Amino acid sequence: MAYHITNNQLRTTRILCIKTESPTVKTLVFKDKQCVKAEPGQFLMLWIPGIDEIPLSILDTNLDGTISVAIKKVGEATKALHCMGVGEVVGIRGPFGNHFSIKKGRILMVGGGTGIAPLLFLTRKLGKKAKKLVFLIGAKSRGELLFIDALQRLCNEGNIIATTEDGSYGLKCLATVPLKSLLANEKFDMIYTCGPEQMMRKVFAMAEKHKIPLEASIERLMRCAIGLCGSCVIGKYRVCKDGTVFTGEQLTGVEEEFGFSKRDFTGKKIPLP
Ligand SMILES: Cc1cc2nc3c(=O)[nH]c(=O)nc-3n(C[C@H](O)[C@H](O)[C@H](O)COP(=O)(O)OP(=O)(O)OC[C@H]3O[C@@H](n4cnc5c(N)ncnc54)[C@H](O)[C@@H]3O)c2cc1C
Ligand code: FES
Repeated sequence: MAYHITNNQLRTTRILCIKTESPTVKTLVFKDKQCVKAEPGQFLMLWIPGIDEIPLSILDTNLDGTISVAIKKVGEATKALHCMGVGEVVGIRGPFGNHFSIKKGRILMVGGGTGIAPLLFLTRKLGKKAKKLVFLIGAKSRGELLFIDALQRLCNEGNIIATTEDGSYGLKCLATVPLKSLLANEKFDMIYTCGPEQMMRKVFAMAEKHKIPLEASIERLMRCAIGLCGSCVIGKYRVCKDGTVFTGEQLTGVEEEFGFSKRDFTGKKIPLP
């Protein structure tokens, strides 16, 4: 996607609507002229005045000029966002990065945690273009299984496979467990994945084994979001500019880091949890 310099100019906007998705995740809705043109897989930088600026995937764009993001409460900035109310001001830069390609045919999506957000956006964009769409979705527990109702409305019910680690909903296992039999028994033309990197690493290995094209959206520490600071590097790539969406072929070139390590705030390589 062409990069527009105006995307990087900070704009302020007001929170228009807040929805509680789970005990730890809220969706916030704003108006933004640039981000409303975003494609699935792109992200924005959200500035919380006086606190921090953080990267978030765009969850949806609407004809009325609104966009939404889903935020999991993990630390200072996200906790502050969870405490904000309708009408409060935040800053936006973006949209940034590349995006998922829109492929027809038999599609498999594998999402975990807040990684389901860009895949839900992609599912909406794919619409009826996909010949078949199977969505494998995983979380720690039922409370953390995001957007299940929206996915059920978009996909045929039988095409959603849900897994939870504690067995409180769907199959009691990691999302990658049913993937093995799914790939052994069905043919797919494309796999899209977003979520914990350990999960995506396994999805990548299985896609390679079955020779299925794959696109994965990955996260790294983001500061500038425009390819200048280097905090998001993985191998020869800057995730903010060359990604966040990478093909299986590109990931083969960064196999030593993908799923294993990232850079911390000082630029030091540290193991992924
Ligand atoms: C491209 C991209 C898209 C993302 N999309 C979403 C999303 O849709 N929803 C969501 O809830 N979260 C998303 N995240 C993660 C989100 O940015 C972090 O959870 C957030 O920055 C944490 O900030 P904090 O101050 O609350 O927590 P902190 O305590 O500061 O950090 C907690 C952890 O969050 C990560 N983190 C902190 N700052 C950054 C940063 N500047 N860049 C990247 N990671 C950081 C680190 O792993 C850190 O250990 C995304 C991250 C990236 C890179
Ligand atoms: S966040 Fe600065 S180069 Fe990617």
